[in-house]
Amino acid sequence: MSGEPAVQVLADPVATARAAAEAIASALRAAVEQRGRADWATTGGSTPIGIYRALTEAPLRDDVPWEAVHTWWGDDRFVPRDDPLSNVLPFDEVLVPGQRSALEQAHPMRMGAAIARGAGTDWVAAEYEAELRAADLPTAGSGFPILDVVLVGMGGDGHVLSVFPGSELLAAAAWVVPVPAPAHIEPHVPRVSLNPGILAAARLPMVVAHGGSKAAILASVLGPERDIRRWPAQLARIGGASWFLDRAAAADIEA
Ligand code: 6PG
Repeated sequence: MSGEPAVQVLADPVATARAAAEAIASALRAAVEQRGRADWATTGGSTPIGIYRALTEAPLRDDVPWEAVHTWWGDDRFVPRDDPLSNVLPFDEVLVPGQRSALEQAHPMRMGAAIARGAGTDWVAAEYEAELRAADLPTAGSGFPILDVVLVGMGGDGHVLSVFPGSELLAAAAWVVPVPAPAHIEPHVPRVSLNPGILAAARLPMVVAHGGSKAAILASVLGPERDIRRWPAQLARIGGASWFLDRAAAADIEA
């Protein structure tokens, strides 16, 4: 895959979240209009919080027919849904109170169920893959399902989803993969991640990053050298993808 994404640089994190939320709302609305349903994968970390908030406020509050929108997770940590480390908790706490119907078609990974039955991340990954296959989405030439939007944040090491530098997921065939707890980055808990091929297959792959702590890594990720094993965020450095950065995060990118 080649080409360059559309990179938008906004003034601050709030403006960045609003611009990303607008693009998500418009892609989800268009998908429902065209195909009767929309499927998107959301992300963890702090990135989605401002986006969820913007999706519950004017002018986007009434823009998305949430009852027809299926929400998936790009990755999650092996903790219960109400744990502060859960990637579902911000969705439950910020989006759902303002958009109750978003809960109807939400597909969180079954971490709590696994913990309750003494199962591990392998079980969660297999269950999630079965759930995703049952959705019967169209597939790309690569064989991966086509979601309308796959939203990812980017870690300080250049990871997206739970695809860390050097990750075995880059060669995995399964749609959903268990990931051992990373030693080099917090939190040190096992995870489950979508295959990065699903990011590349999305109708709209989207990266959102803000803050000066992301500036140096973004300069590499969007720099002259391409090496997905070293900088997995380059998985979304493709034509058709949208990147939303704030000025602080974009500070070191060559114009
Ligand atoms: C996770 C995330 C991860 C995250 C980035 C960015 O579970 O850790 O899905 O990929 O998106 O680390 O995190 P921030 O949004 O907190 O910067």
